[in-house]
Amino acid sequence: MLWANWTGASTVPSRELYPHQWSWDSAFIAIGLRHLSPLRAQLELETLLRAQWGDGRVPHIVFNDAVPLDAYFPSPDFWRSTTAGRAAGAPAAVQTSGIVQPPAHALAAWLVHRADPGLSRARSFLARLRPRLAAWHRYLLCARDAGGAGLAAVVHPWEQGMDNSPCWDAPLSRVEPADPAAYRRADLDHGAPEDRPTDLDYGRYVRLAEAYRDRRYADDEGPGAFAVEDPAFNALLIVSEYALALIERELAADESESADMAADGIESDGLAESADERRGRADALTKTLVDRLWDPRRGLFLCRDLCAPGRDGELVPERGVTGLIPLVLPGLDRDITATLVRTACGPHFGLEGPARLVPSYDLTGPAFDPRRYWRGPAWFNTNWLLEKGLRLHGDHPRADGLRDALLDAAVTSGFAEYVDPYTARGSGARGFGWTAALALDLLL
Ligand code: DGY
Repeated sequence: MLWANWTGASTVPSRELYPHQWSWDSAFIAIGLRHLSPLRAQLELETLLRAQWGDGRVPHIVFNDAVPLDAYFPSPDFWRSTTAGRAAGAPAAVQTSGIVQPPAHALAAWLVHRADPGLSRARSFLARLRPRLAAWHRYLLCARDAGGAGLAAVVHPWEQGMDNSPCWDAPLSRVEPADPAAYRRADLDHGAPEDRPTDLDYGRYVRLAEAYRDRRYADDEGPGAFAVEDPAFNALLIVSEYALALIERELAADESESADMAADGIESDGLAESADERRGRADALTKTLVDRLWDPRRGLFLCRDLCAPGRDGELVPERGVTGLIPLVLPGLDRDITATLVRTACGPHFGLEGPARLVPSYDLTGPAFDPRRYWRGPAWFNTNWLLEKGLRLHGDHPRADGLRDALLDAAVTSGFAEYVDPYTARGSGARGFGWTAALALDLLL
């Protein structure tokens, strides 16, 4: 299946619905691919990072110019990366989107390196990726610190990756939808309308993306109409910062570091940091995440809507799976990890019944829908992260139970994009890249 989605330099999430390279998909896919072919896993990340912009952002889509323009919307002519993105340093040789996705890449790079350290050293894999990963994190921590507290903000729901989560309903309600006659959704050619975001959602996605593009993807003029500090996005940034610390340590100990360090076009001044500095930053970011987003009453992390009235915006009172993902953080207080596990097992997420897999949204919430994309279905990447989090904090029995449920659902659903959290009936694409990759990772 992973071979069927391989294009020669990277992996598509799905040949029909997502026929290009997606940023966070590639990170999860590389994590699984490393077990089959460490070389392909390295290439997956290298291909993505070659499309990095000069300001450090890693675009959420890298377009394959062999794919017809109308196969996916929004296509390259919408994003106009090589013209509108020029000031921000978009590459000339490849077309990309101008928004980002969750930064799981340094974590993936570290795991891929560990799968075959000999090959990695022979190809200077870490030495070549390190400046790009450092520039990526710096972009998020500086240019995207819209709230001024140190966390990265997303400026579009597609950036956080859980596109139509009810967590975005309030922040998105202020966005005037684009005229539906001005574009054509290609996703409905391949996906059932009841499984996908609505037309109203799409109108708002399009309006936000157009506005960012028309600002030439500049981040220094303020965040626009949508800016949210999200728990999962920032938790992955913190985990990746710890992984980058391990990469720095490995390279410092490695004489072959003098190998080709070129990262053409990337602003790389002052990017070299010691492993200790990075670890210190990751610890401090964990504290900031707790200060800004932890809700002790609900027992999970919430999203902070920075565009809501108030000096610091306001917390969105919706329980999304994003609020459980910080369980992957090693530096979380014991009380918080215990509370997160209780919340995952309780009525809102049902990990110990009645759900088979952790849903993307509160089972008891008014907006819950077991079929519609990120409004209830269970996804394999978020459940994989929770499995890792449970294991990290020593809860092996629950981690084993979740692993078995994930593997079972992956196989019986034909490696579906997402499944009904109660029945594990599949929806969306089949033969989905990260479902296959992460199932493989759990198996091996
Ligand atoms: C889509 O096309 O549905 C994606 O989630 C946007 O990246």
